[in-house]
Parts: sequence; C-alpha cells; structure tokens
Amino acid sequence: MNYFERVSALKKDENAVILGIESSCDETAASVVVGGRKVLSNVIISSATEQAKYGGVVPEIASRAHTDAVSEAVRRAVSDAGLTFKDVTAVAVTYGAGLLGALLVGVSYAKALAFSLNVPLLGVSHIRGHMAAAYLADETLKPPFIMLLASGGHTAVIRVDTYTKTCVLGGTIDDAVGEAFDKVARVLSLPYPGGPNVERLAREGKNVVPLPKMLKNQGGYNFSYSGLKTAVINYTHTCEQKGENYSREDVACSFQHSAVDILCDKAIEACKEYSLNTIAAGGGVIANGYLREYLAEKCRNKSIKLVLPPKIMCTDNAAMIAAEGYIRYMNGDFSDMTLNAKASIPLTADAE
Ligand code: KG4
Ligand code: ZN
Repeated sequence: MNYFERVSALKKDENAVILGIESSCDETAASVVVGGRKVLSNVIISSATEQAKYGGVVPEIASRAHTDAVSEAVRRAVSDAGLTFKDVTAVAVTYGAGLLGALLVGVSYAKALAFSLNVPLLGVSHIRGHMAAAYLADETLKPPFIMLLASGGHTAVIRVDTYTKTCVLGGTIDDAVGEAFDKVARVLSLPYPGGPNVERLAREGKNVVPLPKMLKNQGGYNFSYSGLKTAVINYTHTCEQKGENYSREDVACSFQHSAVDILCDKAIEACKEYSLNTIAAGGGVIANGYLREYLAEKCRNKSIKLVLPPKIMCTDNAAMIAAEGYIRYMNGDFSDMTLNAKASIPLTADAE
C-alpha cells in the first residue's frame, strides 16, 4: 500500500487532533485543534516588524522567515497543547491562496511531517480557513448561516449551506476591503500593517468627509472599493493643491464608515433574503473594532445571532486551518504527496 492508501484506510476519529500549519503571508503559524472546535494551542511567529521596514510584505523575506520559523512554530504548538507528535491524527496545511514561495514552506513541511507520522495530509484553502474560524468561536455554530468574509485578498457575502457546501452571493468586483485599508493607510502616511493603523487614527476623527458609498442599494451583494480609494486620494490631493489643511483623522474615520457599513448592511440583507438568523464573520478586517460594534448593533436590532471570532482568530492563524482541516478530515478529503502550493484559488475551492 502506498501512503495515500494507508492513511485512507485509517479509522475516522470524531475527536481527531488536527495540527494546522499556515504560511501564506507573513505569519508562520501552527496550532492544535481537537474535534474541530477546541483550540489547544495557537502559535504565531510574525515577520511583520521586518516587513514594516519596506512598507509591505516582501515575498522573499517572508519565505526566508517561514523557513527559519516553521519547525519552531510546529514544535511549540504540539508542546503548548501538552501533546507529542504521536498524538496527532492529521496534518492540515494552507496550500493557497497566498505568496507561492511562502506557501511552499508550509506545504513541504506538512507533507514531510504527515508522511513520517503516517497520518492524513489535508490541503486547506486559506479562505475556507478564515470562514472556519467561526466554528472555533462558537461551539454550537452549525450551517446554514451567512458568512461575511473580509480580508486582505477577499471580500464576499457567502451562504454556508453545509460544512462543505457554500454559495457565494456576491463579492468585490475590484479591490478587497483590506487592500483598500492598506492603500488608504499609505495615502495617510501610516506604516504597515495599514488596517489597524487606519482604525487607530479613525478613533480620533469624525465622519465628515464626503466619500462615496460604492454600490450602496445596488449591485446585489457585490462590493467595489477601488472608487472609494480613489476618492480618498482625490480629496487629499485637492486639499494639498489648494494649500488647505485637512484632518487625517477625519479622512480615516470617513473612509472606515464608507468601507465597513456597506459590508455589514449587505450581510444583514442576505439574512433577510434567505430567511437565516445567523451571521458569522471572518478575515483580517473583521478584527476592526468599529466594524465589530456596527455589525453587533445591527444584528441586535434585527434579532440576528452574530458569531465574531476573537481578533487573533480573524487575522492569519493556524487554528482556523486546523478547524477547516477537521471538516476535510471528517469528509475524507485527504491530499496525497502531490499536493502543491497555489498562488490563487477560487473563493470557495474545496480541498486539494
Ligand atoms: O485575513 P488577513 O490577515 O490576511 C489575508 O488573508 O488577506 O487580512 C489582512 C488584512 C489587511 O489588509 C489588513 O490591513 C486588514 O486585514 N486588517 C484590518 C485590521 N486588522 C487587519 N483592517 C481594518 N481594521 C483592522 N483592525
Ligand atoms: Zn488571511
């Protein structure tokens, strides 16, 4: 029997101990999750400070940082969980989307580990991982529900019908919302990472700068962020050309309102249209404090249950990869040793 046949023949365990590995961007992360719901450890080694010197993620620096950190992250995740490698039921790893060189570090490591432990290898979509973080935030969460996905690469409203079946109701037609945060941060001379810094500045400002609310009350569940970003650039440039002072705080605050409100409003709308009463959210932008408050209030008013993962589970982590890995494991979607990294994959791609 070859490796794939061997692991496919193993008996499934509902209390599977999944070791998750994530290396798609600038975080080398490893985590142990039991039964798809209980996080035993969550190690994140970030190269963000190094990347900040260059104003953004430099792929080659990210790959090298992952190479240095991956063994340590995995070793710590297993020992923080109070376990040994012998206790691991399966290894889940992000195979895409992300930086190819960065992904390859995690994928190669996970393949070697799964093979040597003789346990299933689970190739996980990073995007699906962000969605699965909600299962860790609320042990009672079950499909169907509406998922609001907002990260640096994706922005979408998704109807989650079952653990494995989803329907994308709409998404961005240009930039992702996180990308817009990062670009506006640059316009406002804020350092990398942009999102949290825009949020911090916005707290000191007022929502008084007229900015467009792109695709409000139109475009179904689609979003558009490139026009909003351009409107911010035009506003600041026009002020500068006229020699007028403008408040960076007010620009940040107004941008945040325009970018965030529409996301939440469309997720609420989807609940109404599909007669669902739960919204779960995931992705780096869901760490935004203003978004969390706005969405929570809207959901309260409409008696919709809201599942918001803690901020550390919104931004990149490996617990979410292990959680999605568990779904793949229970579904028997094992990967074999041909698993490869992919820079881009469709929004709701299944396992590889
Ligand atoms: O999910 P994530 O960590 O990586 C991707 O899969 O893309 O998301 C990163 C994105 C970045 O664009 C970052 O600026 C944004 O999430 N982000 C935030 C906040 N924290 C991270 N945006 C707004 N407010 C935040 N607090
Ligand atoms: Zn991410």
